[in-house]
Amino acid sequence: HRKYRPFTPIHNPNRRWPNNRIESAPQWCAVDLRDGNQALIEPMTVTQKQKMWALLVKLGFKEIEIGFPAASQPDYDFCRWLIEENQIPSDVTIQVLVQAREELIERTYEALCGAERAIVHVYNSTSPTQRTKVFNQNKAGIIDIARKGAQKVLEESRKHPNTQWRFQYSPESFSGTEVDFAVEICNAVVDVWKPTQDHKIILNLPATVESSTPNVFADQIELFCDHIQQRDSVIISVHTHNDRGCAVAAAELAVMAGADRVEGTLMGNGERTGNMDLVTMAMNLYSQGIDPNIHLQHADEIVRVVSECTQIATHPRHPWVGELVYTAFSGSHQDAIRKCMAVQKENSPWDVAYLPIDPKDLGRDYQSVIRVNSQSGKGGVAYILEQDYGLHLPRWMQIEASQVIQSQAETLSKEMSSTDIWEVIRKQFMPD
Ligand code: KIV
Ligand code: ZN
Repeated sequence: HRKYRPFTPIHNPNRRWPNNRIESAPQWCAVDLRDGNQALIEPMTVTQKQKMWALLVKLGFKEIEIGFPAASQPDYDFCRWLIEENQIPSDVTIQVLVQAREELIERTYEALCGAERAIVHVYNSTSPTQRTKVFNQNKAGIIDIARKGAQKVLEESRKHPNTQWRFQYSPESFSGTEVDFAVEICNAVVDVWKPTQDHKIILNLPATVESSTPNVFADQIELFCDHIQQRDSVIISVHTHNDRGCAVAAAELAVMAGADRVEGTLMGNGERTGNMDLVTMAMNLYSQGIDPNIHLQHADEIVRVVSECTQIATHPRHPWVGELVYTAFSGSHQDAIRKCMAVQKENSPWDVAYLPIDPKDLGRDYQSVIRVNSQSGKGGVAYILEQDYGLHLPRWMQIEASQVIQSQAETLSKEMSSTDIWEVIRKQFMPD
């Protein structure tokens, strides 16, 4: 076995999150058009970008990272299209990414010329691996790159006084960086940008490659929040990736640990295993009674548009929005669902076994909640007959009908549709 470096957990006796729950939704930033797009086999076409943009706006995202215009001509052109064609609603701010390099920052401001509002997101990488192996710099050199980048961002912004500028800095590879060094470099950026409570800056802390359990990431965030200067003038943002499958958990724990803002993508498209899935985190909040401030009531449309734009299909068991996540095939689950649904009142809190939320909240109907195959029981058959045909069978008929249906499903090795079930009932109980 190859040896891997063990991760040293951070000991923090004064943990900030005594309640162990998130009290309100964080600020969101959707990065589908940048991080999501840069990971695609075939980057989005203009039409696909326009579709994705329209969807993100419709869902209510107020901050949307639209690309890396200094590094990509299509991103540049898309940025110009948004600005020149007045596509940006007055409550939405576009964000663009740029490396902390002078010529790239100049080009970025060219791309943003004429925008009413924008967030310029500048980054450089800070972990020991990146410092020594990629950039061949010591800590002072890496701080210098960040400071000069921040300075250039400020200078360029002054040349465009009619735009409301906001600034964001990411110490890329934050989660692999010593927290005290991340604080030091971010403090250097704070010193350049001099934020105030009325004009806050964003410090975005990425788990560029997720390499620890989510509690360790949350410890890093908590420690960072405790030591960054001018905490009241800084928005702490997190940007998690899903290498260990925990990007959502890491973002949630990070919010409990003090983060104000979360970056991610719809359905989690992004580099390697993807970015933090905005839909899952928003729905996790919703299912605990917290308004996510994102409109997810047309889930099927979201799934459709995202796969049209990314050319990546959504797994049928994707949390909350997969095609099969509100469907029961097995007899005992069907029976429990049917019994709970029969007593569920319109305005009382949702309390149905095996259904964590009311599928109607996502625009789904109850039709697909119960589907019948060879594993199903009498409850499932009874449910379909009640829902689709208004037919309430006595118990003895339910038992007989479900036995026939089950054996037919076994013989045919297939799911029984509502019409198949009706046919069996008709033949069994209403012979010509
Ligand atoms: O994952 C990452 O570190 C990034 C940064 C550029 C924010 O995408
Ligand atoms: Zn990323």
